[in-house]
Amino acid sequence: MLASGLSRGVGVIGAGYVGLTLSVFLASKGVKTICVEKDRVKVRKIMDGVSPIHEQGLPELLHHVVRNGVLEARDEIGDMMERVEIVFITVGTPTGSDGVPDLSQVKEASRQVGEAMSTSRAARPLIVVKSTVLPGTTWHVVRPIIEEVSGRSCGDGFHLCVNPEFLREGSALQDTMNPDRIIIGAKHSEAAERLKKFYEALYHPSKIPTIITTPTNAELIKLATNAYLALKISFINLISQICEATEDGDVGVIAEGLGLDPRIGPLFLRAGLGFGGSCLPKDLRALRWFAASRGVDTSLLEAIIGINRAQRLRAVEKAESMLGGLSGKRVAVLGLAFKPGTDDIREAASIDIIRELLARGAEVRVHDPAALENARQVLGESVTYCSGLYECLNGADLAIIATEWPEYADIDPSTIKSLMRKTLIIDGRRILNTRRLMEEGIRVHTVGLHNPLA
Ligand code: UDX
Repeated sequence: MLASGLSRGVGVIGAGYVGLTLSVFLASKGVKTICVEKDRVKVRKIMDGVSPIHEQGLPELLHHVVRNGVLEARDEIGDMMERVEIVFITVGTPTGSDGVPDLSQVKEASRQVGEAMSTSRAARPLIVVKSTVLPGTTWHVVRPIIEEVSGRSCGDGFHLCVNPEFLREGSALQDTMNPDRIIIGAKHSEAAERLKKFYEALYHPSKIPTIITTPTNAELIKLATNAYLALKISFINLISQICEATEDGDVGVIAEGLGLDPRIGPLFLRAGLGFGGSCLPKDLRALRWFAASRGVDTSLLEAIIGINRAQRLRAVEKAESMLGGLSGKRVAVLGLAFKPGTDDIREAASIDIIRELLARGAEVRVHDPAALENARQVLGESVTYCSGLYECLNGADLAIIATEWPEYADIDPSTIKSLMRKTLIIDGRRILNTRRLMEEGIRVHTVGLHNPLA
């Protein structure tokens, strides 16, 4: 028996942010983990002890657990079922712009698991859906596929749970090690109890608040969490627009005041260019689609999405008005990642802003400490990639801070003045000392700050 309470190991299908972080964490706890990933390049990297994703603390731990043989990655499920008791499904669930979820990876993973179960002698494996899915998906899509392909029935032949994750990119490992809650959705209490016990042993001696509920509720808790976080961001961004229209409003002070109300709390009230990333925008669209398909009024969800879109466009419009037109103007975009600490540019504000700047005739130079290569895949040769911050500012008419990388906060005013053609800055993430820069003769427009001179 292992420290986790299991006599065999754990399988993880999908080595994305969630799957890989979970795999490395489990292995670091001594749980023999097999991670199945169809991308062979990723598998090879993992087996070489190299992390395929940019995530704090992950490369060192991954290297350690692979070298010790506790974590194994492979591109096929093979005999995995014989060697594991629990299988986590952590594949992606992308959504189109209409919000219709693409369940092809979830279906494929369910089929693979079912197939492996059909030839396995392992009694009652516990299958856990961690991918973010719409209400009803686990019970009405995953379960029937596994039942049909494996020839086993849920409850007798295997157990099934929904167990959403809440980890943030950039602190994915920390969040996996210290979850603020555990949500388990299951139709059979025995299934839920198995997973609960596994986590109790894993996180011992900490006691993590745990909710055991139906699969539907578990699926919805995840979507509601992300929608609520997005709501807070769009709300404060709406207030930031109002601040800009006042005599001397400053959204930072408003957020501070709001956050002191214990019913509201201080987190997710940072105004700026809005939310991006691989989860918030897509989960919000999926929830909107689901609500609409059930005849539920989606105007609140529409508003959250609309404000987020507008916030990006406002930055471009501000740039246009500060420069008196964008055609032929050189704009430096500082920061491409959807937030600092990651190289992920999925649904990043920077990308929409750059596309709009280009559409309006600007010449765009970009910088990011981690995400240049990923951006190149999306933006191609339409912009100039600069590996140095000052190289990016060189000859620029205006700079837009699109990601709050700490190094941008310390840009030296005299360097700005010596490098830029015009010293105009839009601080989309509110990290600059606006007053100090203005005193140096640099025009700064800070989102959410009334500034008649900018
Ligand atoms: C999010 C959820 O936080 C996490 O629980 C879920 O599992 C996955 O989605 P993540 O996408 O890593 O995590 O990023 P997060 O830190 O939540 O930030 C999302 C976006 O909102 C970023 O673009 C960030 O810049 C923006 N944001 C966040 C704000 O604009 N203001 C804030 O106050 C907070």
